[in-house]
Amino acid sequence: MVQETGKYTVITGASSDIGYEAAKAFAQRGKNLVITARRKDRLEMLKQEILGKHPDLDIVIRSTDLSVPENAYLLYEGLKSYEIETWVNNAGFGN
Ligand SMILES: NC(=O)c1ccc[n+]([C@@H]2O[C@H](COP(=O)([O-])OP(=O)(O)OC[C@H]3O[C@@H](n4cnc5c(N)ncnc54)[C@H](OP(=O)(O)O)[C@@H]3O)[C@@H](O)[C@H]2O)c1
Repeated sequence: MVQETGKYTVITGASSDIGYEAAKAFAQRGKNLVITARRKDRLEMLKQEILGKHPDLDIVIRSTDLSVPENAYLLYEGLKSYEIETWVNNAGFGN
């Protein structure tokens, strides 16, 4: 599938399970991605897996701990230069 040049989908909590699979699903639909979580090694693994199938996509990694409120602002501010089409706030945990 051809990517929509310039537009990005942000997925928080992309290092495992729902976020990880959601990232692959968006990539399958030709979306450039910004993937975030604390575990950078897992984000790198996801990036390589996606690029193996979709080498034309741009996959941007942002490793951050979103339990620190300041980091949420820094993430958002740091992405201002990207044209964000969709933002999936998936990071979290269950009790
Ligand atoms: N699975 C379910 O049945 C279910 C049901 C209802 C709601 N949910 C919600 O759906 C979301 C995903 O669920 P899941 O089952 O895929 O959970 P998961 O496997 O535990 O994944 C959670 C994701 O959030 C990230 N994350 C957690 N704490 C973070 C932090 N402080 N800063 C940045 N990233 C953080 C984790 O990455 P790092 O650890 O690498 O930071 C991971 O990528 C969660 O919000 C969960 O509460 C899930």
